[in-house]
Amino acid sequence: MCGIIGFTGGGNAIHKLLDGLEALEYRGYDSSGVAYFADGALKCVKTKGRLSSLRERFAETDDSAVLSGIGHTRWATHGEVSDRNSHPHGNSRVYGVHNGIVENYTELSAYLSRRGYSFESDTDTERAILLIDCLYQSLKDPVKAMMQASSMIKGSFALGVVFADIPNTVFAMRRDSPLLACPSDEGMFIASDISAVLRYTRRFAIIEEGELAVLTHNSIRFILPDGSAREKEYESVTWDTSAAERGGFPHFMLKEIFEEAEAVSRTISGRIREMHPSFEIPLFEMEIPKRIHIIACGTAMHAGLMGKYAIEKLARIPVNVEIASEFRYRDPILEKGDVVLIISQSGETADTLAALRLAKERSVHTLAIVNVVGSTIAREADSVLYTRAGPEIAVASTKAYSVQVALLYLIAIRLGEASGKLSPCKTEQLCRELENMPEYIEETLNIRERCKAVAERCSAHHSIFFIGRGQDHALCMEAALKLKEISYIHCEAYAAGEMKHGTISLIENGTPVFAFATEEALLDKTVNNIREVTSRGASVTLFVRAGLKLPQGIADEVIELPCVRELFMPLCAVLPAQLIAYYTALTLGCDVDKPRNLAKSVTVE
Ligand code: F6R
Repeated sequence: MCGIIGFTGGGNAIHKLLDGLEALEYRGYDSSGVAYFADGALKCVKTKGRLSSLRERFAETDDSAVLSGIGHTRWATHGEVSDRNSHPHGNSRVYGVHNGIVENYTELSAYLSRRGYSFESDTDTERAILLIDCLYQSLKDPVKAMMQASSMIKGSFALGVVFADIPNTVFAMRRDSPLLACPSDEGMFIASDISAVLRYTRRFAIIEEGELAVLTHNSIRFILPDGSAREKEYESVTWDTSAAERGGFPHFMLKEIFEEAEAVSRTISGRIREMHPSFEIPLFEMEIPKRIHIIACGTAMHAGLMGKYAIEKLARIPVNVEIASEFRYRDPILEKGDVVLIISQSGETADTLAALRLAKERSVHTLAIVNVVGSTIAREADSVLYTRAGPEIAVASTKAYSVQVALLYLIAIRLGEASGKLSPCKTEQLCRELENMPEYIEETLNIRERCKAVAERCSAHHSIFFIGRGQDHALCMEAALKLKEISYIHCEAYAAGEMKHGTISLIENGTPVFAFATEEALLDKTVNNIREVTSRGASVTLFVRAGLKLPQGIADEVIELPCVRELFMPLCAVLPAQLIAYYTALTLGCDVDKPRNLAKSVTVE
């Protein structure tokens, strides 16, 4: 995780670095810092806490003449959250910022200690930067020093480095952590993510592994390990700054919830037109799989569970859904004809990336569903389907979930059609209904005031349950994750029929239980489970698909969701789950967009 930025160009560098860090704060916000050239020397200012604390340190100074520097916003991995562990790290000769994990930190510490170095922080980063300094002292060449350091560092890194005796030049390299080089009219940037520099440019090139980028005020050179230069084409993002701004909403999370309908529409409509009515253009090139393994983390894994329901229902292909951090270490059985389907919003999640690499090693076809264009997972998978959600800034994933689910439905329909399990007529009907889903997603937003009232009531509780059966259970898992991560209230998702096997003992008078019932065939069973908890004092809010008949007084509150095909209900049902999490966190005064201990892009395992 952690966000990195670097700039060299025509002035106001501190301002640009701080603004860039603000856009990158979603990657980590334990501390932040900058190192820059001023008065013929390198200076470093860093502090724990949010970026506002760093901004305060510059409030009184006129730094408009500063031409270049590097900046960092941290999600702590090595060492507590403190000023001294904040980045940049280094000494009067060299400073650097780092995203990733240096695994041979202990060996490097010993190597450096033997050469007279001592350490001021507990971080792995400091070792990497001092190693560069040490090599630079002997090799006298920054490119050679960084290349050699790269070969000595085990683990992952994106590094931005400045040397005191090479003013206004920024050096950058990476392995398994993202880093872009971005030219602009005002100067040259490096950034973990294009959103950090969108105010100045939309152009970027990915710094490839093994390459070194050298930025001066009017040039970016890419150097290969043999010292030769590499010419690169720059790519451009199509979205602009407004997509990465709040646009009148109090929080990114709320904005992103309100963007779900449009995002789902972008994700599916063009592709449905490709499939329907002629089905001439394949959604992806692959044989019908014998078995599908959906691998992801967190919310993306929950989206995968919906994919399992859809693919098994429509295409009758067995699907195994697994958490990436488990899959990668359990020697999974992958056979010829299997497909590994990787889901990741960021395309950088370390465990998910490792799972992808494992599948590739075993020669199994890999298909990735990714939001961030050009991310590592997108580049390494055999085929990629982009979710086209636009940037998701809030740490809690909302619109990314919906577009992942929508794309999985499309894959399920496609596989059903291609395997002959769905007739052309049924396929067409499903496509048409899926294409209409954005309307129903919009309609679901009408229940937001009721969700707010429910949230205000449940915010006083310390324990909350979500229950449902079938795909409603999978939805409950996402609902509980959302509420936990941003409101810090302990909650659990349970298969409604499983409560009585132990967990029901936690129900007491007034315990809030959210029940979801969107599948007719399971309704009576879920109703029975609701009775089991209400008779033990639970206060139940039931979300039900409109049109399903309920017994009188079955729950304290019943909130109807639009009546759409059961299979597609999660695209509507997830909205109250997200809204309840949002309003509960708001009521409790939590930082909705930047919950404690978390970061958006989890690039450590
Ligand atoms: C929760 C959340 C996380 C991510 C998970 C995977 O709101 O955002 O659970 O879903 O860290 O991230 P990606 O999709 O980027 O691989």
